[in-house]
Amino acid sequence: MSDRFTNKIAMITGGGTGIGAATARRLADEGATVVVTGRRLEKLHDVARHQAKGTIAPRQLDVTDPAAVETVIGEIVDEYGALDVVVNNAGIGPAGTVEQTTDTAWATMIATVLSGAFYVSKFALPHLKATRGNIVNVSSVSGLGGDWGAASYNAAKGGLTNLTRALALDHGASGIRVNAVAPSLTQTDMTAKVDADPELRAKFMDRLPPGRAAKPEEVAAAISFLASDDASFVNGVILPVDGGLGASNGQPRLG
Ligand SMILES: NC(=O)c1ccc[n+]([C@@H]2O[C@H](COP(=O)([O-])OP(=O)(O)OC[C@H]3O[C@@H](n4cnc5c(N)ncnc54)[C@H](OP(=O)(O)O)[C@@H]3O)[C@@H](O)[C@H]2O)c1
Repeated sequence: MSDRFTNKIAMITGGGTGIGAATARRLADEGATVVVTGRRLEKLHDVARHQAKGTIAPRQLDVTDPAAVETVIGEIVDEYGALDVVVNNAGIGPAGTVEQTTDTAWATMIATVLSGAFYVSKFALPHLKATRGNIVNVSSVSGLGGDWGAASYNAAKGGLTNLTRALALDHGASGIRVNAVAPSLTQTDMTAKVDADPELRAKFMDRLPPGRAAKPEEVAAAISFLASDDASFVNGVILPVDGGLGASNGQPRLG
């Protein structure tokens, strides 16, 4: 494993499980000091036990609370002296069509996926200017096009995709890069329902050229590339990590 993040301070939201946890381990393996944040402290402590070149420190944070976001980012900079990398990864799963989505479910989705990333970025930007740091947002293939039965998720992830582009344009002159990954089905707690439903799983496998879901580590590898100096001239990119799902024009299999 290389040392791309030696002396770098990273913050990951939703870092206690899945893609966020895999990213924390990856960045720490490459030398970073990583602050993993999320609501469930015990999950964060599990991730922090990972042995690596760098270290992982847990900190409780609900991204739907802008005041708490500001406080925690301030504490990270006070404690570690800088902030180089921010990964906006916190998210919750799809919740149905517009008719099926309650006011509360809509508000929670937007607050978590879109406003969460907005406030984390807002409070991190002054510190990222100081380090010429970068942000990687975890969008989704659901932020590039529509799904059936995932209206609030599509809206929030679509917003996050375009927020990524706006941030990249507005802050490029300060030396800040802002990119996103857009994963397809990835094996995490969020997609356990797919694994548990053979019929639904088969439908997914039919659309995915590799015939399998991504592993969280495969998404983490793409995030670590975008966050590293290897991507020093990559800005405003939404990188699909989808096994080729997006190569399809949407028609059914002809052969
Ligand atoms: N799995 C997939 O197929 C897939 C595909 C494309 C994109 N994604 C995106 O990848 C990201 C990570 O998801 P995952 O698949 O790794 O699922 P996951 O294991 O369920 O991770 C989601 C994380 O977000 C955290 N979170 C949720 N609400 C939060 C809040 N209000 N404040 C802070 N943290 C919060 C959760 O921790 P706490 O509950 O402890 O807070 C959890 O650790 C999400 O943005 C998801 O939309 C996933």
